[in-house]
Amino acid sequence: MTEKKPYYITTPIYYPNSNLHIGNTYTSVIADVLKRYKNLLGYDTFLTTGTDEHGQKIMKSAQDAGVNPQAFVDKIASETIELWKKLEIDYDRFIRSTEKQHEEDVKNIFTKLYEQGDIYKGEYKGYYCTPCETFWTEAQLEDGKCPDCGRDVDYQEEETYFFRLSKYTDRLKELFKDHPEFLEPAFRQKEMLNNFIDKGLSDLSVTRNSFDWGVDVPFDNEHVVYVWIDALSCYLSAIGFGDDKEKFEKYWPAGVHLIGKDIVRFHTIIWPALLMALDLPLPEKVFAHGWILFDNDKMSKSKGNIMYPEPLVDLYGVDALKFFMLREFNFGSDGNFSAKKFMERYNSDLVNDLGNLVSRTTSMIDKYNGGVVRKGTVSDSFDDDLIALSSETYSKFNKLMDEFNFNAAIEAIWVLIRRANKYVDETEPWILGRDEANKERLDRVLYNLAETIRIVAQLIEPVMKNTTREILEKIGTDNKGFESAGKFGLLEENARVSKGKNLFDRLDIDKELVRLHDANGALIEQRLKKNAKEEKEEFIDFEDFTKVNLVVGKILEAQNHPDADKLLVFKVDIGEAEPRTIISGIKKWYKAEDLIGRNVIVVKNLAPRKMRGIESQGMLLAADFDNDLTLLSTLTDIKPGSKVS
Ligand code: ME8
Ligand code: MG
Repeated sequence: MTEKKPYYITTPIYYPNSNLHIGNTYTSVIADVLKRYKNLLGYDTFLTTGTDEHGQKIMKSAQDAGVNPQAFVDKIASETIELWKKLEIDYDRFIRSTEKQHEEDVKNIFTKLYEQGDIYKGEYKGYYCTPCETFWTEAQLEDGKCPDCGRDVDYQEEETYFFRLSKYTDRLKELFKDHPEFLEPAFRQKEMLNNFIDKGLSDLSVTRNSFDWGVDVPFDNEHVVYVWIDALSCYLSAIGFGDDKEKFEKYWPAGVHLIGKDIVRFHTIIWPALLMALDLPLPEKVFAHGWILFDNDKMSKSKGNIMYPEPLVDLYGVDALKFFMLREFNFGSDGNFSAKKFMERYNSDLVNDLGNLVSRTTSMIDKYNGGVVRKGTVSDSFDDDLIALSSETYSKFNKLMDEFNFNAAIEAIWVLIRRANKYVDETEPWILGRDEANKERLDRVLYNLAETIRIVAQLIEPVMKNTTREILEKIGTDNKGFESAGKFGLLEENARVSKGKNLFDRLDIDKELVRLHDANGALIEQRLKKNAKEEKEEFIDFEDFTKVNLVVGKILEAQNHPDADKLLVFKVDIGEAEPRTIISGIKKWYKAEDLIGRNVIVVKNLAPRKMRGIESQGMLLAADFDNDLTLLSTLTDIKPGSKVS
């Protein structure tokens, strides 16, 4: 026996800050199909997925939900596992970045890089986008916002450790030049080169010290490891980097990292540089898919336009959903999910094309042959075209799958299905059936149809394995292996066909749109409510409240921060000998001079913090909602320094 070739596939390690929607699940569906496909070709595959549980974004989400971070991520991680079960995602390893062994691995990686001089201590001055967990320089910002997501960024000055990313600039250039297959689609290579690598890379801050929800830096527990270093390392620890050398050496390097377009830089600049520093081989390929919009809009919890995959599976089955995701979207480009489109495709491709071919063929074999397949002896020139296409589709499908051109690969199968339906119209079996003299011809026609259906059933197996099983049952044969799709004529004479119930029932689209909308809406509501309930249940003691020293202040002076776009610098009288200097990120909502003389509420005992070179000695309270903000004040004038309680 020849040894099976290993092939390691990864999905991103998802942030468990909220339940995954149809866009997030896209990568996992693709990964699952790719894995099944490679398995069918005889590879020894390994698929890793999981959750990216550390970092400021998760910590904030947990705080918003009023629960501790571990409890928060436990819940969503287990719901994610449930979701993969429902979607029949055939993963081998679900890794959580809070697992002990993984944390050990991250610490060892960090120590090794520090000891060999690839990591050094310094001070970070720059911006941070928490939703993206990304550092940005002033020059990289667009209109003062995160260039990736367009949201607000925070200015930070932190003591930090840096990774010598700059040192790897030339090797990264070489990687892109010598291995154009490393990053696909190809146009992403230019983006990475033009926007980052060719501009010269700066060293990367790889620790944070303003919160502690992360892996401790082993030799300096003031710091936690930057969440992206932690997350990327999951690809290694999931296959035994620190505890199963044999397994690790078998599966590393990865055959492909499947990711979305928003995280290309992490996977094709930071990740290979880290691997170079660790002296590990690089993944063979990173493939970045596009963004899936929902009704042409970006999905967002606050807009309430989230499409969850669960109702689609419950109402229409997992095979239909996987089929749609692969068939509808061009892997690599942005796409739009619309419920109507889903149902139209369901009716046209699954009901009309595939379902109809199977049901008309099985009922004709029932009617004319008592449900028994006969090979027949009379052929006709009509047959050649169908047989040729049936035999070729296997290699076409494989070629397109190997290019990650999933929608074209599926379309190739549907070209065959539609050809077979046309063959029915060309050969008119119902006319042949009228005259006993045409029996051998009729048998041959029905055989060709049943055999084409067998080939189709084998071809769709990586995507729709349940449908494969149902079809093979209907035409009374067994699964002869994926490669059997490349050979016409394997269906047995005398196979017993059973029509049974329809593979797919026609959807009444207007009715179904309402049903799906209601089911999805109920899920959105339920998930919102769950969070609200958790929020209510968390109390703090009065003691905790009294730790915050709140006082009334009067603004004496106000000016723009000389070195920052979004900050105002105030002198505030809080009843002490000297006014306090307080910096606040509210310039977007207020003009400095309009605030002079106003009363404000000040957190007096907040630890002083330097913001772009000026120390802030307290904080002003404000209320905000959805990008709207107002400073808190007092209803009437009262002496500065008055206690707020
Ligand atoms: O980025 N359409 O996690 P994440 C298509 N933890 N893909 C989408 C999408 C949409 N509408 N919305 C999100 C992270 N995605 C990190 C990964 S890996 C070491 C760490 C995709 O939960 C997105 O492109 O924010 C990404 O590939 C994946 O969901 C996870 O995003
Ligand atoms: Mg994201």
